[in-house]
Amino acid sequence: MRVVIAGGHGKIALLLEGLLAGRGDQAVGLIRNPAHAGDVQKAGAEAVVCDLEAAAAGDVTVLLSGAAAVVFAAGAGPGSGAPRKDSVDRGASVLLADAAERAGVRRFVQISSMGAGQPPRPGTDEVWAAYITAKTAAEDDLRSRDLDWTILRPGRLTDAPATGRIRLAAPPVPRGSIPRADVAAVIAALLDEPGTRHRTLELVGGDSPVAAAVHSIS
Ligand SMILES: NC(=O)c1ccc[n+]([C@@H]2O[C@H](COP(=O)([O-])OP(=O)(O)OC[C@H]3O[C@@H](n4cnc5c(N)ncnc54)[C@H](OP(=O)(O)O)[C@@H]3O)[C@@H](O)[C@H]2O)c1
Repeated sequence: MRVVIAGGHGKIALLLEGLLAGRGDQAVGLIRNPAHAGDVQKAGAEAVVCDLEAAAAGDVTVLLSGAAAVVFAAGAGPGSGAPRKDSVDRGASVLLADAAERAGVRRFVQISSMGAGQPPRPGTDEVWAAYITAKTAAEDDLRSRDLDWTILRPGRLTDAPATGRIRLAAPPVPRGSIPRADVAAVIAALLDEPGTRHRTLELVGGDSPVAAAVHSIS
């Protein structure tokens, strides 16, 4: 299966590319910095340069053509301000979803965040509020489309090794953290479970093995 991953040099994306390559899938990482191509290739994926804040929908459509699934794993990142929360966390997801529809790629897994789906609390830090607003808008856009989408809202991400044990359920799930390696494993499993389409799921560390948790909600 050919899987195109937006934000292909992100921490979750690189882990996901390794998992997909390991099971014989063809992963393609969309990156904006050509210097990141070597890391993506080392993870086992094809690297394609595509800045999702600058690309036209038609160009992204061409890149998605022939893919079985698309994963939105991009993010403006911790050092960015409110405008890039909108242009990446919302805008790049909308562009990718638009291109997926045009290319006829139905399966779309979006990495969102716990906290999305509700307005930011009054008094919240301006950048955090912009992030949550952007993630919520990206989710709403995706739900409005004729795609087999799954929205995944992880809790606080860590770089700890994979545990293989998670809590995955419809909101609300109590706040918690989750290793990026476990998030990558959950996405790989979601791609294999079309029954998880049209579901919004929250994810933190827990007791259930990944495959069983994903299977049980499909
Ligand atoms: N941090 C948390 O605790 C947390 C919690 C829940 C959800 N999340 C979400 O989880 C997702 C993945 O997290 P992560 O830690 O794996 O992210 P990450 O390591 O920050 O990776 C994000 C990637 O997006 C890329 N990107 C940024 N702008 C782009 C553009 N215009 N075009 C193409 N790619 C672009 C970045 O590339 P560059 O290196 O070129 O900038 C980077 O490789 C993000 O959506 C994040 O918001 C985070």
